[in-house]
Amino acid sequence: MIERGSVSPASAAAAHQRWWDENARIYLSEHGQALAGSLQWGPEGVTEADLRLMGEVAGRSILEVGSGAGQCSQWLHSQGAHCISSDISLEMLKAGDSALIRVQADGYQLPFADRSFDITFSSYGALPFLPDAPAVLREWARVTRDLVIFSVTHPIRWAMRDDPADLTISRSYFDRSTYIERDGQNQVTYTEHHRTIGDWVGAIVTAGMSVAEIVEPEWPAWNGETWGAWSPDRGKLFPGTAIFVAKVQ
Ligand SMILES: C[S@@+](CC[C@H](N)C(=O)[O-])C[C@H]1O[C@@H](n2cnc3c(N)ncnc32)[C@H](O)[C@@H]1O
Repeated sequence: MIERGSVSPASAAAAHQRWWDENARIYLSEHGQALAGSLQWGPEGVTEADLRLMGEVAGRSILEVGSGAGQCSQWLHSQGAHCISSDISLEMLKAGDSALIRVQADGYQLPFADRSFDITFSSYGALPFLPDAPAVLREWARVTRDLVIFSVTHPIRWAMRDDPADLTISRSYFDRSTYIERDGQNQVTYTEHHRTIGDWVGAIVTAGMSVAEIVEPEWPAWNGETWGAWSPDRGKLFPGTAIFVAKVQ
């Protein structure tokens, strides 16, 4: 059952731990190959090697939140960074490389001391699924000395259906109601939260950071693959991903 409404942070986190544990194998069989060997910021296939948002990473300590199987952390590790990969889903973490340090953690409550890392980042992890973005970002800022970087579905995509061939606007960009799926027992099984560009900037500032950069990567000509609702046809016309680079004060 699909509805729009609101959910508590606790029920969202519990639902996502279950959902990602149950769906880890399917997600990784669909996308694992495309994700391997680089730090991708989104379905466009634009990577950290292309954008260099983190600067020189060799020797820096970096935390990934909502890492899934940790392909991004693995790439950073190959570049000489000291990286920890964290996720709420044990099944996603278990699929990661055993050479990586992997920690099971909810993005709301990270088991690390203040200012432990130079950089905390996430590529489509944790944040889209959690109701209170400023609280999550405040927690990420707490454990970070320099930069918090995250990518999410570009807010304009929320005004469109999930059909990658459909180019029409079907919902208001300003509709922030939560996307909620429930099972037959009315239990929340999956949620996603829409925020506008302005909401994301507000969340970063409320979390005590400043916005250094917002990147809207263009769909690269080499990528002819559709990924869920992200497609080359849509990518020619509007962005599918927004990447936020925030400076910890
Ligand atoms: C779309 S996947 C992205 C994973 C990885 N970055 C990638 O590109 O494959 C979203 C990830 O966020 C994780 N996640 C969901 N809710 C979370 C939470 N509350 N805390 C930490 N991770 C969470 C999921 O378990 C899942 O691995």
